Amino acid sequence: MGYREIYGAWQSDPERFWMDAAEAIDWDQKPTRALNDDKAPLYEWFTDGMVNTCWNAVDRHVEAGRGDQAAIIYDSPITHTKRAITYGELKDRVASLAGALRAKGVEKGDRVIIYMPMVPEALEAMLACARLGAVHSVVFGGFAANELAVRIDDCAPKCIIAASCGLEPGRVVHYKPLLDGAIEMASHKPDFCVIFQREQEVADLTPGRDVNWDDFQHGIAPADCVPVEGNHPAYILYTSGTTGQPKGVIRHTGGQLVALHWTMKNIYNVNPGEVFWAASDVGWVVGHSYICYAPLIAGNTTIVFEGKPVGTPDAGTFWRVISEHDVKSFFTAPTAFRAVKREDSAGDYVKKYDLAGLRAVYLAGERADPDTIQWAQDQLNVPVIDHWWQTETGWAIAANPLGIEELPVKLGSPSVPMPGYDVHILDEGGHEVPTGDMGAIAVKLPLPPGTLPNLWNAEERYLKSYLEHFPGYYETGDAGYKDEDGYLYIMARTDDVINVAGHRLSTGAMEEVLAGHPDVAECAVIGATDQLKGQLPLGFLCTNSGTDRTDNDIIEECVKLVREKIGPVAAFKHAVVVDRLPKTRSGKILRGTMVKIADSEEFKMPATIDDPAILDEIKTALGKIGYAKA
Ligand code: COA
Ligand code: AMP
Repeated sequence: MGYREIYGAWQSDPERFWMDAAEAIDWDQKPTRALNDDKAPLYEWFTDGMVNTCWNAVDRHVEAGRGDQAAIIYDSPITHTKRAITYGELKDRVASLAGALRAKGVEKGDRVIIYMPMVPEALEAMLACARLGAVHSVVFGGFAANELAVRIDDCAPKCIIAASCGLEPGRVVHYKPLLDGAIEMASHKPDFCVIFQREQEVADLTPGRDVNWDDFQHGIAPADCVPVEGNHPAYILYTSGTTGQPKGVIRHTGGQLVALHWTMKNIYNVNPGEVFWAASDVGWVVGHSYICYAPLIAGNTTIVFEGKPVGTPDAGTFWRVISEHDVKSFFTAPTAFRAVKREDSAGDYVKKYDLAGLRAVYLAGERADPDTIQWAQDQLNVPVIDHWWQTETGWAIAANPLGIEELPVKLGSPSVPMPGYDVHILDEGGHEVPTGDMGAIAVKLPLPPGTLPNLWNAEERYLKSYLEHFPGYYETGDAGYKDEDGYLYIMARTDDVINVAGHRLSTGAMEEVLAGHPDVAECAVIGATDQLKGQLPLGFLCTNSGTDRTDNDIIEECVKLVREKIGPVAAFKHAVVVDRLPKTRSGKILRGTMVKIADSEEFKMPATIDDPAILDEIKTALGKIGYAKA
């Protein structure tokens, strides 16, 4: 069957489609139905099934004879380490860790925060939680202590599992002081912390609170898998919204298992036993779905890569890893390819490696610009597939499903909707726009299995952020259009979220930090176009009259403040001081116009602008820091 038939089969009988897909999962008790619409518009999947994620990702493969196959390959050019962990070893390691967590009181439903870099132990910690039915929440290492504190208070973990440090090129990220600072800031205190000591930096343990990863497992009985309901939360992953308070996206157990398993063959075209590599980070959704869960659920080998596309040690790292470990499908972000292309546009490094095993490359996280796709295709001679998804969905909304059929690639489009997603382009009033016209992208409810059923402790916010604007639909927050062949084009966000090097960030959150500076009276942050990272945040500061500080001092402090409060990942490095911000007569800041000016693009003078003269001031200020060149 081709894509159209499979999509059609889902459309005509979604219940049957997902019940069939659920056959690939080992259930302790099979679900009697797929969709649960009892609380519509809140939907759930496989509610009455009983199942365990860790069993499906690890133990069942050992039982099926894959015990000696590598489950995880750890490749760290930063520490010069390469190591494989077989499914058999992974089972023992995870069961032991889960046993130790249980012995200290972690049970089904308890939350556990995981704050770890790209080491296999991060996956082991996730799987150990899954084994017990505990709900993990992984926090990205590039966030500051304050962001960790916000998450601690929101999900109230019983335990935090952290590494002693992370390693960025040329810099040790001291996790332990960040962890201690976050716990001090948070009102909720975890019962205990487990510290994985890395040899690059051994942290001092806090007596009475911290235990050592190895020591606390000593002499403890391993834990078996605890079956949980299909709608039991597998994890919470926080993502940026319009305000400083991140949204806790919930993933349910049954839906995630079924959907992710379905994607491995149908979208990524890999078979059990083959090597799949997503070069992302466990702190992001790509890391959850495609470094940890999906490849393991499907019996693949996954790669935990601790390095960067360039500089660790060179722009050939990706190709070395693909060649050495015989990677069949490779997933990365367009920004990573732009970084490689910038250093090796002629592809000299590509030629050094045997990439014959590689079948396809997948890009996501931000819009894939046609130049980058074309370059990658020319260098690698395999299909380069753009696909579109979000933390909220957990897997691709639109893709070119190579395992079903290779559809013609249209540069600039992540291709077509996957089964489960009925995608519509709507105008402000919720009416379908004509083919080719831009609009808000919305997905008809219910969303498929594996997508978010709700936000942690924030049902009202869930309804308001996603379901209220277009009743009967999930609002993606993206804008774009559909062509006559049904291909989607994802062009921009409709909210204040920006995408920096494939990382999703909230300009609203940065504005909240800047507004906290004593000399800042008013501010705005926009995402200006950047050749490498896609977008970069750019701040506009109006300072308090009467301040005796220089503009440069204030800017420097603001840059430092965002790094301290949000983290280095925000990449907030540029700001200008202006007298006033351009606004509409009703007081709304004209961010879209500011973006156009920064990017030196033509723009129409907004009819509602309060004082057009401000735009010249903005242009002059931006010109001084290398923007608004035209
Ligand atoms: N822990 C601590 N700090 C981190 C971090 C982590 N896990 N990840 C990034 N940072 C820091 C970086 O060190 C950098 O700090 P600096 O300001 O001191 O230089 C800052 O956060 C910004 O990081 P980033 O935007 O990633 O830029 P970079 O200059 O380090 O690297 C690229 C540029 C393009 C090579 C890099 O962004 C990249 O590989 N991107 C791929 C993105 C990706 O995989 N996204 C996942 C979505 S699929
Ligand atoms: P995240 O939740 O971090 O995965 O970010 C999701 C957002 O990234 C989406 O809402 C889009 O704005 C953007 N995005 C992800 N993949 C793509 C893509 N293939 N094309 C365009 N935008 C994308």
